[in-house]
Amino acid sequence: MLATCMVLGRVLLLQLIDYLTRNYMSDPFVTKLMNTTRIHILPSMNPDGFEASGRDCMYSQGRFNKNGVDLNRNFPDAFLSNSEQVREKEVEAVMNWLKTEPFVLSANLHGGAVVASYPYDNSNGGSELQGKSSITPDNDVFVHLAKTYSINHASMQKGNKCYDSKDFADGITNGYSWYPLEGGMQDYNYVWAQCLEITLELSCCKFPPEHDLPGLWEANKPALLAYVQQVHLGVKGQVLDSNGTPVQNASVEVQGRRNLCPFKTDRNGEYYRLLLPGSYTITVTYPGYEPLRETVSVPYGPDRFTALTRNFQFREPTCPSPVRNRENHSAALLPSTITALTALTLHTLLL
Ligand SMILES: *[C@@H]1O[C@H](CO)[C@@H](O)[C@H](O)[C@H]1NC(C)=O
Ligand SMILES: *[C@@H]1O[C@H](CO)[C@@H](O)[C@H](O)[C@H]1NC(C)=O
Ligand SMILES: *[C@@H]1O[C@H](CO)[C@@H](O)[C@H](O)[C@H]1NC(C)=O
Repeated sequence: MLATCMVLGRVLLLQLIDYLTRNYMSDPFVTKLMNTTRIHILPSMNPDGFEASGRDCMYSQGRFNKNGVDLNRNFPDAFLSNSEQVREKEVEAVMNWLKTEPFVLSANLHGGAVVASYPYDNSNGGSELQGKSSITPDNDVFVHLAKTYSINHASMQKGNKCYDSKDFADGITNGYSWYPLEGGMQDYNYVWAQCLEITLELSCCKFPPEHDLPGLWEANKPALLAYVQQVHLGVKGQVLDSNGTPVQNASVEVQGRRNLCPFKTDRNGEYYRLLLPGSYTITVTYPGYEPLRETVSVPYGPDRFTALTRNFQFREPTCPSPVRNRENHSAALLPSTITALTALTLHTLLL
C-alpha cells in the first residue's frame, strides 16, 4: 500500500500509476512486477488537508483534516491506550481497508524532510527501547526496506539537506529516535495489520513549485519501483488442516521475532513474512493441533519476483482440543476504530 497525506505525494503516486499502466507489456521489469504483485495506491488520504494547504514551503495547515485533526496521530497506539480518542472518518476507512486484504508492505508519503523513517515511532520504555531508538523484532528488515528507498533515490542517502540540519546516516532513521509520536500509521500497520510500513519524507518543501515536479518524479521513480519489488522478500505460503482445508487465524511465528501481535493466516489460510536471506525456524500453531515447526533457508526473493513458498499442513486434531490462547495483549494493544489515510498498498500474489 502506498498512501500519502502530502501534496507532492499525490503527484508522485499519480505518476506511478501512469508509469505502471503505460509500461505494462512493453517494459519487462514493469510487466514482471505487475504480473506478480497486487499494488494498491491511495493518492490522497487527507483531501481536506490538500485543499487547505498553504502554497509556501513550510506550511503546516495542510497536515490537518477539516476537523483540525492530524490523521497521522489518530491511529490506535501500540504503546499507550488512546482508545478514548475519536477516530476520524479517514482513519476509520483506512483501518477497515486494512482488514479487507492481507497487505504485506506499505509506505506513506510525507514532506518537510528527506529521509526514510521506520517503526517504531513510539515506545513506553519497554524492551523495544534500545538507546534512543524504539526497535521492532523485524528491525533488520525495516532497515533494509528504508535503505532500499534511500539508496535508489537520487539524493536521499546523502543525508538530510533541509532546514533543521539533522543529519541522517544513509538517509534513514528510526522513527522514535528522530522524534517520538503517538497514534502514527506506521506503527499501527505493522503491529495490527501485519503490514510492514515505512514513512517516506520526500522533499524539504511541502508544496514544491510546479517546475520542480518532473525532477522530483525522476528522483523518486527508481526508489518507488525498488521498494514495491521488496514485497517479494522472505517466505509465504498456506496453512491447511488435515483435510486440506485452509486454516484462518493460525499463528505463524518466526523464532527470535516476537511480534506484539502474532502474525496470523488470512481467510485463505495464507501468510506472508518479509525476511532477509538466511535460515529461520517457523512455528505454526492453531488451537487443537500439534504445532508445526520447520527450519527454512530463505533466498533473496525480489530478484525472482517471488518469496519462498512453504506450505504447512496440520496432522489429525488432538483430542480433546485444548484451546490455548496464545495471545496475551494488554488492553492498549487492542485496536478500537480507525480513521483515514492516503495509501499505496502492496501485497504479493501467492503463486
Ligand atoms: C505477464 O502476464 C501476461 C498475461 O498473463 C503474459 O502474457 C505475459 O507473458 C507475462 N509476462 C511476464 C514477463 O511475466
Ligand atoms: C479470525 O479472527 C478474526 C479477528 O479476530 C475473526 O473476526 C474471525 O472470525 C476469525 N476466523 C476464524 C475462522 O476463526
Ligand atoms: C497475561 O498477562 C498478564 C499480565 O502480564 C498475566 O497476569 C496473565 O497471567 C497472562 N495470561 C496468560 C494466559 O498468559
